[in-house]
Amino acid sequence: MRTHTPFTNLAFCIRTFGCQMNKHDSERIAGMLEGLGALPVETIEDADVVVFMTCCVREAADTRLYGQVASLKNTPLRPGTPLSKRIVAVGGCIGQRDGERLVDELPHLDVVFGTHNPGSLPHLLEAALDEGGHQVEVLDAASSFPTELPTAREHAWAAWLPITVGCNNFCSYCIVPYVRGREKSRPLEDIVAEAEGYVASGVKEITLLGQNVNSYGRDLYGSPRFAAVLDALDSTGIERLRFATSHPKDLTDEVIGRFGTLRSLMPALHLPVQSGSDAVLAAMNRRYTRAHYLELVRKLRETLPGIALSTDVIVGFPGETAKDFEDTYRLVDEVGYHQVFTFIYSKREGTPAASIDDPTPHEVVQERFDRLVDLVQERAYEANQADLGATVDVLVEGASKRDAGLLAGKSPKNQTVHAPLPDGLSADDLAGTTVRVRVDEAKTWYLAGTVVEGPCDADDRSGAADGR
Ligand code: SAH
Ligand code: SF4
Ligand code: F3S
Repeated sequence: MRTHTPFTNLAFCIRTFGCQMNKHDSERIAGMLEGLGALPVETIEDADVVVFMTCCVREAADTRLYGQVASLKNTPLRPGTPLSKRIVAVGGCIGQRDGERLVDELPHLDVVFGTHNPGSLPHLLEAALDEGGHQVEVLDAASSFPTELPTAREHAWAAWLPITVGCNNFCSYCIVPYVRGREKSRPLEDIVAEAEGYVASGVKEITLLGQNVNSYGRDLYGSPRFAAVLDALDSTGIERLRFATSHPKDLTDEVIGRFGTLRSLMPALHLPVQSGSDAVLAAMNRRYTRAHYLELVRKLRETLPGIALSTDVIVGFPGETAKDFEDTYRLVDEVGYHQVFTFIYSKREGTPAASIDDPTPHEVVQERFDRLVDLVQERAYEANQADLGATVDVLVEGASKRDAGLLAGKSPKNQTVHAPLPDGLSADDLAGTTVRVRVDEAKTWYLAGTVVEGPCDADDRSGAADGR
């Protein structure tokens, strides 16, 4: 029997913003709290302990957090709670950046922690429960890798696996290196051991994580390279392997080649371009040119013709001219991405770009942004047409949010796929299994079709129609 802890039967809720790093850290936090006897709940209203995992990559995320935490003051306690006050904790990147300042602005906050010490949360919460007051602990650097903590994953069949933390690139607009610290790689043996554990427990898809996975290993003895991580992961027998994020300046021919040879590596790559203008790329400190980026795209398509590419673009970087923007527009048109995450530049205090003058009026930036979004949708729609009539392997995630009679899952190219549930099978029965779906409709953001086979094991599907 589990021993009684201060957390036994407390209800907790985690709200996560930002990137996969935060999502992963949230899973670790859920794992720790559940291990101590606390119970996860869906809503803040039902929770005794609320944890915000925060992001400050753009200003909107900042403002939202302050609003949400402030409004909690007026949220009544749940009926039957053993506490006289709801405990509120803020972690992640705003916790790291603002530390003590947060409790000055939000006095009803109980706990603040940072990106380097999610493992400290239980003792900080315990101190807040015992002693009250503000418990703030933010460290300058991590003493251990966050993956050494237990985990409660959102899906039993999918796992995030960090291979590096931090970032050394200092793109001039970006706050991440300041809130996540210097890049640190995890030893290959540890990565492989964790992956083997996942495979043994039935995980179907592993996504390797790092701000720039391509620079993996530079800080380790013998400098193992990212391609070696891909090879080792493929050998674990994992069904699907993905990774994010790739910096174009460090994407090697060796890694590109793996798309043609590794069984488990999915035919999709997120390769953030940020801008199609050489002048803006230089001002962003991205350290590649438009021509270099397009050459990478050419090599990727030569290696694996059907590969689905996605990217990030920032519109309105300080000083971006009409000509710079046209270069970006043309690049997006030329590449024909499956998905583009478009962002309006957001000034982040403390970054080099924050001190560059910006004469471009907001309306002009907004108009550029809207034009780009229209193009992105057009090209995404066209990219999906290539799969019309094909049969694709779909790793089922559950019921579609729009229609409970449809299953929703992901294709190898990471497209969302919907299909009516086959007779006699529920979305819960199918979650985590792979079915084969014939694509009858290809829309901008999803494919729709009919289940023609499955559920089946990866081994039954060699020679799949789309080649993967
Ligand atoms: N390490 C990853 C992701 C970083 S953050 C990478 O290098 O691609 C995710 C995206 O947010 C970035 O790719 C960028 O497009 C966007 N972003 C970062 N800082 C921003 C800012 N100040 N304003 C607008 N978008 C920003
Ligand atoms: Fe930010 Fe650039 Fe590092 Fe990505 S590579 S996290 S954009 S500094
Ligand atoms: Fe946001 Fe931090 Fe990720 S700032 S994008 S949550 S590293």
